[in-house]
Amino acid sequence: MILSRSRASRKPAPDAAGEGGQGAPPRHVAIIMDGNGRWAKARRLPRLAGHRAGAEAVRRTLRAAAKLGIECVTLYAFSSENWKRPEQEIADLTGLMKQFLRSELDEIHAANIRLKIIGDHHAFEPEAARMVDAAVEKTAENTGSTLVVALNYGAQDELARAMRTLGERIRAGTLEPAGVTPALIAAELDTANLPPLDLLIRTSGEQRLSNFLLWQVAYAELYFTETLWPDFDEAALAQAVASFGKRERRYGGL
Ligand code: FPP
Repeated sequence: MILSRSRASRKPAPDAAGEGGQGAPPRHVAIIMDGNGRWAKARRLPRLAGHRAGAEAVRRTLRAAAKLGIECVTLYAFSSENWKRPEQEIADLTGLMKQFLRSELDEIHAANIRLKIIGDHHAFEPEAARMVDAAVEKTAENTGSTLVVALNYGAQDELARAMRTLGERIRAGTLEPAGVTPALIAAELDTANLPPLDLLIRTSGEQRLSNFLLWQVAYAELYFTETLWPDFDEAALAQAVASFGKRERRYGGL
C-alpha cells in the first residue's frame, strides 16, 4: 500500500530541502528489510537461508540504487530490539555482515561510496566491530554516494542520546533552553549531515516504523510493498522510486 497524494511536484522542506516529485530521484532512501524469515519458511528452509538471500538482495539493491542516481541509502540491518532473537540467529546475522564486508568492501570503495554506521556497532562481537570500524575508516574520504547501515540502532535511543548531549550543554551554560531548535536536535542525531530522508520503504507487507528514523521520517514519503526482502530487486526499487516521483510533497503547505 502506498500512502500519498498522487500528483507530482516539489516544494522545499521547512528546514532542509528534500527531493522528489517531477520524476527527480529521491536523494535519500531508507529501507526496512523485512520478511527474510517468512521467505525461508515458505521454502521450508532455515531462517539463515532467508538472511543469506536477504544479503543478496542488499547487493542487488545497492547496485540498482547507484544506477538510479540515489545519493544515500540507509539500511536497517539490526535494530536495538533484535538482541531479543536467539543467540544463534544473532551470530548468523553477525557472520553475514562480516561476509558482506569481506566480499563487497572493495567494490564499495572502488565505487567511491562512503560507509556510515548509525546506532552502536560496538555492541557486536569484537572482530565484527573492528571490521566495521575499518570499513568506515577506509571509505571515510569517499565523495560519491553514502551507504548508511543501521546496526544496533533504535530511534528512541538515538533521540535520547541527542537530548542528553543538549542537556549537558544547557547544564554547562553554553546553550539556553530556548535555543533548542529542530535544527539543533537534527545536528545531534546519528544522521547529522546526511541528506534529508525522502523515501522510506518497508518490505513484506508490514506497515509500521519499528523504531527506525522516527525524527527523520517527518516529511518522508512512505512506501509499503508485499514483496519479501529476499525477493526485492532492481524492478522493485524502480517501482518504489517511480511511486515517489508521482507524489506531491507539500510539507504542510498548500
Ligand atoms: C528482517 O527479516 C531482517 C532482518 C532482521 C535483518 C536484515 C539482514 C539482512 C538483510 C542480511 C544481512 C545484512 C547486511 C547489511 C549484509 P525477519 O527475520 O524479521 O523476517 P520475518 O519477519 O519474516 O521473520
